[in-house]
Amino acid sequence: MDLKTFEAGAWAVLQEAASDPQAGFRYLTLCTVDALVQPQARTVVLRQCADDHRMLTFHTDVRSPKWQEMAANPQVTVLGYCHQRRLQLRLAGRVECYAAGSDVSRKAWRALPQHTRQTYTGGPPGDARTTANEAPDPTAAETGESRFGVVIVRVSVLDAYQLQRNENQRALFHYSSMGALQESKWLNP
Ligand SMILES: Cc1cc2nc3c(=O)[nH]c(=O)nc-3n(C[C@H](O)[C@H](O)[C@H](O)COP(=O)(O)O)c2cc1C
Repeated sequence: MDLKTFEAGAWAVLQEAASDPQAGFRYLTLCTVDALVQPQARTVVLRQCADDHRMLTFHTDVRSPKWQEMAANPQVTVLGYCHQRRLQLRLAGRVECYAAGSDVSRKAWRALPQHTRQTYTGGPPGDARTTANEAPDPTAAETGESRFGVVIVRVSVLDAYQLQRNENQRALFHYSSMGALQESKWLNP
């Protein structure tokens, strides 16, 4: 395999995962650094992948701690492993965060199904509650949009690792801020 094929394959599987809930890279780990310089990681759903611009899109609640963490420090790492393909992708980059009122969030909100919108109608993520399940507030339906945020990661480095019996392969790819491939090289796995 050559570097070009390896890189194209990595982006193709991400692209695929953005529209396939069953795909291995559908659920990715988004890592931020908090105000105490503690690394933070959580699972997020890959909503879009603009592979030509090396951009990944996620949705979140702007009241969740990660939103403030990314506002203070936009450098993030996204990690995924597809068991079926035996492929690990580690993507480092900068986020752009779009809160309610922005064209980006308005457009994304319009495309969300009702049950997904519902997830933004509860209390602030991470706040304490008294029971495991709280009755949904029927009047809260419209307020979800004000809490909905879109996170776009512009990837600057991709570290791709293919597990293969006896011949693991690993390569590093660097991108410009516009997503142009600037450098690629094989690494020792
Ligand atoms: C399978 C799965 C998918 C999730 N998808 C998202 C998501 O797309 N966006 C999101 O903000 N949180 C998602 N979560 C919840 C986060 O993992 C996390 O618990 C929550 O956003 C609070 O994160 P924070 O406290 O680091 O801000 C998901 C959790 C699971 C288990």
